[in-house]
Amino acid sequence: MQSSADLRSLHVARFGAAPEIFAAPGRVNIIGEHTDYAEGFVMPAAIDFATLAGISPRSDGKIVIYSENFKEERSFDAAALPAAANHYWSDYPLGVLAILAGEGYTIPAFSLSIWSDVPLGSGLSSSAAIEVATALAVLSLIGAEIPGPKLARLCQRAENEFVGSACGIMDQFISANGKKDHALLLDCRDLSYKLAPIPPDVALVIANTMVKHAVTGGEYTSRRAQVEEAAAVIGRHRPEVKFLRDATLEDLEKWGSEMSPEAVKRARHVISENERTVEAADALIQNERKKLGRLMAEAHWSYSRDFEASCVEADAMVELAQDLPGLIGARLTGGGFGGCTVNLVEADHAKEFAAELAMRYVTRTGIQPQIHICHASDGARKV
Ligand code: GLA
Repeated sequence: MQSSADLRSLHVARFGAAPEIFAAPGRVNIIGEHTDYAEGFVMPAAIDFATLAGISPRSDGKIVIYSENFKEERSFDAAALPAAANHYWSDYPLGVLAILAGEGYTIPAFSLSIWSDVPLGSGLSSSAAIEVATALAVLSLIGAEIPGPKLARLCQRAENEFVGSACGIMDQFISANGKKDHALLLDCRDLSYKLAPIPPDVALVIANTMVKHAVTGGEYTSRRAQVEEAAAVIGRHRPEVKFLRDATLEDLEKWGSEMSPEAVKRARHVISENERTVEAADALIQNERKKLGRLMAEAHWSYSRDFEASCVEADAMVELAQDLPGLIGARLTGGGFGGCTVNLVEADHAKEFAAELAMRYVTRTGIQPQIHICHASDGARKV
């Protein structure tokens, strides 16, 4: 399977009806990690890996979902959809249906075929891509339209309330609203954003450590709880602070002793990361590459040392890239604990950069990485 034409043939062969097809991309976050649920700033770009969802109506009252990745079909009664997740790939599309139903939409019977080339569990937002692609497909069948930012919120709720993972808004937002050749500086408080063009001579090189990560896992949730603990302590002294977005490093110095040592470190990361992210967007817009690279390096080590969300392999992938020709900046991207690093690389050097980084990584860790040269792409759309 490689294209929407393949998905169309598969859907027709399996369901005997021509589908409408929708695509929703994965993403890479250039900077701004674990800041989204603290109402802070992030700077992701949608990438040219996507989930495709093909949909056609049915007349037997059923919702049948086929995943080409899992080579598996699941069938449900449209009038009695599951009310809870069962830790299966189908939780993501079902979560979207549950949220749409809760918003008052009547969910009709349909066949849905899904295929994704976003590497699963690699910190490139494969789950957001499935949610957003499903939402677009189902809404089109219903004949409804929801603007991108609101669509992102509904998909985030599918993940928070149905799948049971405490993620923020970043992944769903960029999957729904990405812009070709741009990163977005997103203010996660009001969902306003500024476009930051990625110059044509800069490549996004995504290096997969092959160490699996899971946002549903306990580490993500415990980090979020520590971030919220820090905000609550500062809020006792400055009631206007409900989220770390509004806190400063001085607040942390004054009241850090009232928090757990972990909360102090997590907060130091989040507060400084917010500043770095805004500065990095400015550096990207001004094409100040040295500054951007420095901020990415600071972000990585803050994520690794203060947030303790990196791993030996991701630290190695970042270190090994440092003296390679063409590197502008490198850091671990996404929820943490494995997954991918994002490397901004001068496009002329990208191929050799990828080959050399792979060689160094396999020598250091014994793991064969997957390295992709990606481009910033548009958000979700009809194909
Ligand atoms: C995951 C979550 C996002 C965000 C990142 C960390 O990708 O889904 O909401 O919190 O981790 O920046």
